Amino acid sequence: MVSIVVGGHYGDEGKGKMVAYLAVKDDPDVICRAGVGTNAGHTIHVDGKKYGLRMITCGFVNPKPDLMVGAGVLVDPEVFLNEIEVTDCGDRAYVDRRCAIIEKKHKDADRAGGGKIGTTGSGCGPANADRVNRVAKLAQEIDELKDYVVDVPMKVNEAIDSGKEVLVEASQGFGLSLYYGNYPYVTSKDTSASTACADVGIGPTRVDEVYVIYKAYMSRVGKDPYVKPLTDEDVAEDELWTTMLSRAEENGFLEGSSNEKIAAYLGEVGTVTGRPRKIAAFDMELAKYSSKVNGATQVCLTCLDKLFPKCYGATTLEKLGGEALAHVKKIEGGLGIPVSLISTGPDAKHVVDLRGQ
Ligand code: GTP
Ligand code: IMP
Ligand code: MG
Repeated sequence: MVSIVVGGHYGDEGKGKMVAYLAVKDDPDVICRAGVGTNAGHTIHVDGKKYGLRMITCGFVNPKPDLMVGAGVLVDPEVFLNEIEVTDCGDRAYVDRRCAIIEKKHKDADRAGGGKIGTTGSGCGPANADRVNRVAKLAQEIDELKDYVVDVPMKVNEAIDSGKEVLVEASQGFGLSLYYGNYPYVTSKDTSASTACADVGIGPTRVDEVYVIYKAYMSRVGKDPYVKPLTDEDVAEDELWTTMLSRAEENGFLEGSSNEKIAAYLGEVGTVTGRPRKIAAFDMELAKYSSKVNGATQVCLTCLDKLFPKCYGATTLEKLGGEALAHVKKIEGGLGIPVSLISTGPDAKHVVDLRGQ
């Protein structure tokens, strides 16, 4: 059984949180990180402790599975080794020997030249450019990584062949794809489920489930002019956003535009960059398109509690409350696919699981 988790909008949809949930609930034997590299920032809360991870999969919260980084993912050795310490998973963490390496020169170049796009400055774009030019170093050449270097596709396919469960955590979101996103305001590679398969060396015939994750609203970091933040008029015309603005102001978020007040209230600040995220209403057209291209079999909605605080921590449909349920139904209706996992809080346990119902 192979399941892949991808982002359906512009990243930061809460993939890390959903992977942490699935890692515990479904108890896979192997969990692989796919995606671009350390530009990702996956935040999870487990039993009151917060982790912000950029290389090691959030599935580490289950102490049993092997944790792998696929060949397509860029590895920053310093970040990888530090996260092994933080998550205490050195005895079960692996990187593919062919992962390309992010070096200091890549981070310097990204910080110096990424301003136009508003990159994360993590060095991913320049490192992928070196990879395409076939001058990047690979993990197998790096002494500090020698204890962790393996052939990830061999291990993963052996696991699949012997009937084990494999979970794949992608990064970023569909709207950031080099192929399908708002070019040039995109990341340095495709971010769809097919590329996540290629990243870890799994053939498309072997995939059972594709989980596409959406937030109950949308957020965007970086300088993408195609994603329009909520204007003061949008907020005034929509009951939900008017309520959010009142709550933001009641809670002391009084500076800037309506969008900035709401973003601050929602805690929408980049995990890697610390930059405030733009807030926008749920983009149904993009969501439909990304479900299609990703071949979604399961749709997950996160951060429902941020819009409807009464549903915080709910684990059953009954506990969501009418307004939150109506929002879920509206999105389901627009997408034409049932929502099967609903996240109601930052903790890995805050999930309504409707799979198989
Ligand atoms: P990228 O790979 O960087 O795109 O990250 P991601 O999809 O893993 O998301 P990220 O962790 O960057 O952002 C999601 C944020 O929302 C984090 O701060 C999570 O802790 C938080 N979060 C996720 N799900 C929920 C939820 O249901 N409710 C609340 N309140 N917070 C959530
Ligand atoms: P890069 O991937 O650092 O080159 O950044 C390119 C674009 O993708 C910028 O708009 C970034 O803000 C965005 N981006 C990259 N990674 C993430 C992510 O994990 N979450 C949200 N946005 C991201
Ligand atoms: Mg993030």
